[in-house]
Amino acid sequence: MSIQGNSSPIKIRRAEGDFLYRENGEAIIDAISSWWTVIHGHRHPAIMEAIRKQTERLDHVIFAGFTHEPAEELAQLILDSMNADLDSGHFSKVFFSDNGSNAVEIAVKIAHQFYKNRGTIRDKKKSIFVRFSLSYHGDSIGAMSVGGESVFTRIFRELSFPTKEFPSPNCIRCPWGKIPDTCSTECLDDFRSFSTDHEEEITAVLVEPLVSGANGMVFHSEKFLQELRRITKEKNIFLILDEVFTGLYRTGEWYAFAKARIQPDIVCLAKGLTGGTLPLAVTVVTEEIYREFDTADPLKAFYHGHTMTGNPLACSAAVASLGILKEQGRDLIGKLEENLRSRGEMLASALPNLVRDMRVLGGILAFEVEQDLGPDEYLNPLGRRIREACLERGVLIRPLGNTVYLTPSYHIGQDSLDQIFSVLRDVLE
Ligand SMILES: Cc1ncc(COP(=O)(O)O)c(C=O)c1O
Repeated sequence: MSIQGNSSPIKIRRAEGDFLYRENGEAIIDAISSWWTVIHGHRHPAIMEAIRKQTERLDHVIFAGFTHEPAEELAQLILDSMNADLDSGHFSKVFFSDNGSNAVEIAVKIAHQFYKNRGTIRDKKKSIFVRFSLSYHGDSIGAMSVGGESVFTRIFRELSFPTKEFPSPNCIRCPWGKIPDTCSTECLDDFRSFSTDHEEEITAVLVEPLVSGANGMVFHSEKFLQELRRITKEKNIFLILDEVFTGLYRTGEWYAFAKARIQPDIVCLAKGLTGGTLPLAVTVVTEEIYREFDTADPLKAFYHGHTMTGNPLACSAAVASLGILKEQGRDLIGKLEENLRSRGEMLASALPNLVRDMRVLGGILAFEVEQDLGPDEYLNPLGRRIREACLERGVLIRPLGNTVYLTPSYHIGQDSLDQIFSVLRDVLE
């Protein structure tokens, strides 16, 4: 919705590879892959071809009591990629929806209903969802309830269901002044003692693994996730990973959980699933969870179905997108990480008084712009000024307050990267 004083939206006529093209033909480099979705660049030929072919066979079919090949193929590809490096067969079922917020809502509802369905004396106490302060899980009421407080959610807090919040880990600026190699995950101390006192009441913990994205691109260590998994497993608490942003090689591996070598109970994916072409999301669960729903009792069914669930065109786009990742994902992200790191280091050393906390993980680069005035969050006017100045020079970025970040397509060309960094330097100087 519009905000008074905001400039009018820019009309885009077409897109290809790294570029968006305006009505007048001017090119804009998409340095954030349009909110982290267009992971293969715009209109990747293999994805376009898959959608085109699918339009000749099946547009849509109700996804209750019916199925189709693209959905089945996609579910298998997702399960294979998730079970690849770890104990194979851990993940067992894929639930389809159409955006990241829904994928999270579904994860929350499945975790809640699991205990209702099982219904042991101990299960009756399960009611608490744990969230972290910097997390963002989407804009629907349920997804906001399990996310941290921010400009996006604050006004709706009374509408949210109660959850228990703990401070997010922050390995860039550790409040304890520690570094991951030698810390004792002090950031989990409060949760450790809470989970000991309320072990039987906690249903699940939700976390964005390795990176709190929308609330500042704050990184944490694999060690944090490993310790969180250890505690939650010991205390029979579900660990739900929201990999809507971090999944599909964004942090360097198929999934952030694979990088941290842990096995969560539920995983949410969206964003890059279709390479940014069509809306699609999934919530993936283990066999143990699925079994509590797989009964003849209709009261134990999971009643959640969005109208466009499992859309065949979206599924065929996702099959093509995952096919590219299967073949080239690791190489592409390895090279992108190197390219971001070397250029990021150059920018940080060229502007030491302006650029702080330069960090890179997989296909994410972020840093803070040093400044004295204004709130240190999303509405900080500095972010808007940087965004507008970059756009005037043909680069699309969307700083989060004074946090500038890049999340380009995994295929971005060297020339485009050079241009992005030269524009950033010019604008920041
Ligand atoms: C980690 C995470 N979870 C969930 C969402 C919500 O996804 P969507 O906008 O598709 O509802 C986002 C969106 O930015 C996200 O970054």
